[in-house]
Amino acid sequence: MRPFFLHLPEEILLLVLSYLDPRALCRLGQVCRKLSHFSGRDAVWRRIAKKCLNSGFVQPGTDAVSGVSVKERVRVSQNWKRGRCRRDTLLKWKRNLMPWIQLDGELLYVSQAEEIRAYQLRPPTNGLNRRPFAVFLGHQEDVCRFVLNNSHIISGAGDGKIALHKVHSSVSIQFTAHDQDVNCIDCHGGVIVSGSRDRTARVWSLSSGRVGQCLHTIQTDDRVWSVAISPLLSSFVTGTACCGHISPLRIWDLQSGQLMTCLGTDFRRGAGVLDVCYETPYTLLSCGYDTYIRYWDIRTSTRRCVKEWEEPHDSTLYCMQSDGNHMIASGSSYYGVVRLWDKRMNQCLQSFSLSSPTSSPVYCLRFNGTHLYAALASALHVLDFTASDSRFTTL
Ligand SMILES: *[C@@H]1O[C@H](CO)[C@@H](O)[C@H](O)[C@H]1NC(C)=O
Ligand SMILES: *[C@@H]1O[C@H](CO)[C@@H](O)[C@H](O)[C@H]1NC(C)=O
Repeated sequence: MRPFFLHLPEEILLLVLSYLDPRALCRLGQVCRKLSHFSGRDAVWRRIAKKCLNSGFVQPGTDAVSGVSVKERVRVSQNWKRGRCRRDTLLKWKRNLMPWIQLDGELLYVSQAEEIRAYQLRPPTNGLNRRPFAVFLGHQEDVCRFVLNNSHIISGAGDGKIALHKVHSSVSIQFTAHDQDVNCIDCHGGVIVSGSRDRTARVWSLSSGRVGQCLHTIQTDDRVWSVAISPLLSSFVTGTACCGHISPLRIWDLQSGQLMTCLGTDFRRGAGVLDVCYETPYTLLSCGYDTYIRYWDIRTSTRRCVKEWEEPHDSTLYCMQSDGNHMIASGSSYYGVVRLWDKRMNQCLQSFSLSSPTSSPVYCLRFNGTHLYAALASALHVLDFTASDSRFTTL
């Protein structure tokens, strides 16, 4: 005999179910086919999702367009929070390198010595087709960093050059940009900003006919390790080696090339900044040799660090990425340690050691709503947070 409950009109049934917690819903879903169907409906999960995703973490896809159910989004979000994922090594190579990566939808770009290779990620497992579908050449020495801008890859390398590679063709142009390694590069709003070991940062035009024309040369008096252009496109920040008594974080006007402000006051010598990114036009994140991730508010008169998170093993932080909401992922200098941080907490939330027993820095990491990719000295790893897990019933 079918229980009376199942004869209720659909909207009433969905309403009743929407008051259940995730655990009860998952258990109910195991009772029969009909309940399995109803307990998985978006309408039932919206209330839970509101609580869990708003306060949450990475957003695994947004809404109906992505074709991902609300239940699935809640599940993936919980997986991030709890560190539940499947680990895989996507690529290995023999020589130790300092790879950089960028993720663009189903494409993963990886720098390997003087080349940049583009790999197709294959759903549903997101394994990698080991044969790159495109290789971008043009540098004589190792690529240090590169960025994507829809149509182009813009890279800086140890040969002091900047190269612009058209993504859908093999056409590339290069120009000599610095006397020494181009350590870092960013590109937005029609300009490139590069930073170098030669203690300068430079601004380059991208307008047609003026590509490679230097608009400003900025004497930083300190090796430049990281740069980022502000979302307002009015300024950019440099992260430098901190060899002298200058703040390692300085903001420069993009139009005039003049120094606008220095961040922080007491910095240790050698507290170089290896990665920096804007969260909003007024807030930015930095990390580096001083083993902290720092959150800066440039509106405050003191331009203070408003929050900081310490790497618990006292390792240098090589790279980080924020989801723009509550989560930051960082890569450490030893044992391929990747950490997930919830900005509202002081301690790190989850950590994964990708290279033990041998040690390697995490040179670069990138994540989207479901996957995190980490580039180490001799391998590329993935953490897949969609990995289905029966323990979800005990959510
Ligand atoms: C993340 O990237 C993987 C690999 O490209 C892709 O299959 C997956 O759908 C992406 N997830 C989101 C939420 O965009
Ligand atoms: C990307 O870079 C190319 C090549 O330098 C440039 O022509 C194009 O305008 C840039 N696109 C964007 C969106 O900045």
